[in-house]
Amino acid sequence: MKSILLTGRNGQIGWELQRTLAPLGRVIAFDRDLLDLGDASVIRATIREARPDIIVNAAAYTAVDQAERDASQAMRINGQAPGMMAEEAKQLGALLVHYSTDYVFDGSKDSPYTERDQPCPINAYGRSKLAGELAIQSVGCRHLIFRTSWVYGLRGSNFLRTILRLSKEKEELRIVDDQFGAPTWSRMIAEATALALAHQTEPEGLFHLACGGAVSRHGFTKAILELTRHLRVREPLLAAIMASDYPLPAARPHNSMLACDHLAKALAIQLPDWRDALNLCLEGT
Ligand SMILES: NC(=O)c1ccc[n+]([C@@H]2O[C@H](COP(=O)([O-])OP(=O)(O)OC[C@H]3O[C@@H](n4cnc5c(N)ncnc54)[C@H](OP(=O)(O)O)[C@@H]3O)[C@@H](O)[C@H]2O)c1
Repeated sequence: MKSILLTGRNGQIGWELQRTLAPLGRVIAFDRDLLDLGDASVIRATIREARPDIIVNAAAYTAVDQAERDASQAMRINGQAPGMMAEEAKQLGALLVHYSTDYVFDGSKDSPYTERDQPCPINAYGRSKLAGELAIQSVGCRHLIFRTSWVYGLRGSNFLRTILRLSKEKEELRIVDDQFGAPTWSRMIAEATALALAHQTEPEGLFHLACGGAVSRHGFTKAILELTRHLRVREPLLAAIMASDYPLPAARPHNSMLACDHLAKALAIQLPDWRDALNLCLEGT
């Protein structure tokens, strides 16, 4: 039986991974208290003691706006820690699975980004995530990097849960209509990860992994409200605004679309359209 070391077990993706990876081996799952990615010696000692066959790094510094004023900590967790994990994985001959983001791109392209497009992050979080990718690639351990986008689920801190909360509190929601991407359910990412790891020919490299289609944040909100009407006594008004009307500390790419054909061709894994995944996620709420 393989042993799988999982970080970030309480995060959106980590939570789901603890469940989807269970049939593949013995999952040793860590939260921040047990394995702080800000502490190099703890990272190395934990991996050396566990001697896993697979390391799955679902932990990250994900506070995008906070990262603007805390760039060194974001870089430590997202940029440097993955490199250390890669070095330890290489020593052990283990596979490192890591997650990255659409925010490595500047969003100026007018079609979906492929793995061959040149990253050019426009915020501190994106720069730290790109540094993590490059660190893993330069160490050269066996690795799988999944770039995903707009992750949501019924747990944790995410856009879906924020909209569900605000829709009960506010009379009007003013949501950005000029940023496009594919909202991706955390469970789908964890399922796809398990499928990739169970694949007969062990895949390696960088893959885009997101739900199909694309929508603006305003369009995503509209779909959420339509599917959850039964949860509210009155409906909020929904207004479309431009990103420039809602300035945030970190700039966001206007186009976050990721082309996922590489994964479909290499492993026959393709996530459903974002709307179908949202339906599944919300069914039974
Ligand atoms: N969320 C998105 O929209 C999105 C989009 C694209 C890519 N991604 C990538 O997907 C991956 C998973 O994201 P997610 O949405 O599941 O994130 P999440 O829900 O914010 O979870 C991140 C986890 O990392 C843990 N963590 C933070 N700092 C840590 C540290 N110093 N040491 C150890 N653990 C630490 C957190 O622990 P605590 O619970 O203690 O805070 C949390 O459990 C990340 O690589 C992220 O960059 C996310």
